[in-house]
Formats: sequence, C-alpha cells, structure tokens
Amino acid sequence: MITLKNINKLYDLGEVKVNALKGIDLTINRGDYVSIMGPSGSGKSTLMHIMGILDTPTSGQYLLEDYDITSLPDRELARIRNKHFGFIFQSFNLFPELSALENVMLPLGYAGVTYSKRKDRAKELLAEVGLGHRMQHLPTMMSGGEQQRVAVARALANDPDLIIADEPTGNLPSDKGHEIMDILEKLNNKGVTVVMVTHNPEQGMRAKRTINIKDGLLHSDELNSKGGV
Ligand SMILES: Nc1ncnc2c1ncn2[C@@H]1O[C@H](COP(=O)(O)OP(=O)(O)OP(=O)(O)O)[C@@H](O)[C@H]1O
Ligand SMILES: [Mg+2]
Repeated sequence: MITLKNINKLYDLGEVKVNALKGIDLTINRGDYVSIMGPSGSGKSTLMHIMGILDTPTSGQYLLEDYDITSLPDRELARIRNKHFGFIFQSFNLFPELSALENVMLPLGYAGVTYSKRKDRAKELLAEVGLGHRMQHLPTMMSGGEQQRVAVARALANDPDLIIADEPTGNLPSDKGHEIMDILEKLNNKGVTVVMVTHNPEQGMRAKRTINIKDGLLHSDELNSKGGV
C-alpha cells in the first residue's frame, strides 16, 4: 500500500538542525495493523506526519500503491489525504466551537457530500462509537474518552483505507484507552489498515506487527505472534 524509500527529515532551524529521520525504508501492506514504538524524540510523530502526507520528507521517495506521489502538488496531496487517510491524535484535535456531530460532518464536507447525507453519515458513525446520545455536545462538555471517540468517528467519515493514530490513548485512563484500542482492532478486522504510535508495550503487542524507531533509524520490524487477536 505504502512504500517509503530512504526517507530523511531534517528540521532546519538555522543554527540548530535536527536530523529527525535518517534513511527510513518501510513498507505498509494493505490490512496491516502496525504499532510504532521508540523513545521520546526518536522520530515517530515525524514519520507519521510524513506517512500521512501532512509533511514532506527532506529527501526520499513515497510510493502509494506503486505510484510515486513524492512531488505531487499540495492540492493533489490534500485530496489523497482526505480520501484515503483518517487521523487520530493524542490530543483529540476537535474543533472546540463545533458539536460532536459537526466535527464528524466536517471531512465529509471537504469531500463534497451533500448536507443531509453528511448529517446521516455522521449520526451513523457517532452511533457506531457509542455516542448516539452526545451528538449535540461540544468537545468541552465531553470526557476525554468521548472526545477521542468523536475523533475516531471523524477519522472514519470518508471510509479511509488507512488509519494513522499517534498515541491515540496517550491522554486517556487505561479503561478508556481499551475502548479506543477495541475500536481500532475491529476496524482492522474489517480490512482497514492501522498504523499506531504507542508508548504502551501491551498495546504494542496487540498489533500484528511492531516497528521500533531509535534516533531516527528503523531499529526493528517484527511480527507479533499474539497480535491481532
Ligand atoms: N517542527 C519541528 N521543528 C524542529 N524540530 C522538530 C520538529 N518536530 C520535531 N522535531 C524534533 O525532531 C525529533 C523527533 O521528534 P518527533 O516528534 O518525531 O518524536 P517522537 O518520537 O514522536 O517523540 P514523542 O514520543 O515524545 O512523541 C525531536 O528531536 C524533536 O525535537
Ligand atoms: Mg510523538
């Protein structure tokens, strides 16, 4: 599905330069459920941003289904991102002035879906994550776990092929974290590819495959014997 070839990322702040990724080669296959682990500052989020085409590498190649998208114009990349990828972040990243329903409707608007279809689809998604009774709530009126489930519903709005989740349970107590993990696993069982950063070894082992990043380098890439169950 995605092949990254010799990806380098240099953050150039003038006097300070950070070599965040140093030649990453990585293939994500359709149907994968991958956990990405590694110390703080090792480059995990940088890698997720590049994989999700939220950021571009300093050098290297990005192939999506064998098609080189490395140098496509931003507009094209935004279209690919909205159509194929769903994002979940540690800090939920919901729009504070929009209700749960409006937050989930938003990406459908970018995709050109009509208002009534957007509303129906968003209601359906919120019901799926167990928030049918919280549609009109603003993010500040919801618990962390509820906010993250809204974020999951929003990530699913355009039927993504790939879910990119950067520490999706990082700000949640462990029982609420489990709910998010269960949703991600169910999605993967339905065929959605999931790539997730986590600091939690137990969560990491639940994935089918674990990649370790250390100091901008791919340190290990292993299948988990008990993953994906
Ligand atoms: N926008 C930026 N500008 C400059 N340096 C950055 C930027 N973003 C990240 N870095 C640096 O790049 C390195 C990798 O950061 P990254 O956020 O990818 O780490 P991480 O593995 O996700 O860490 P954590 O587990 O703490 O989230 C760090 O040294 C960080 O300080
Ligand atoms: Mg990070």
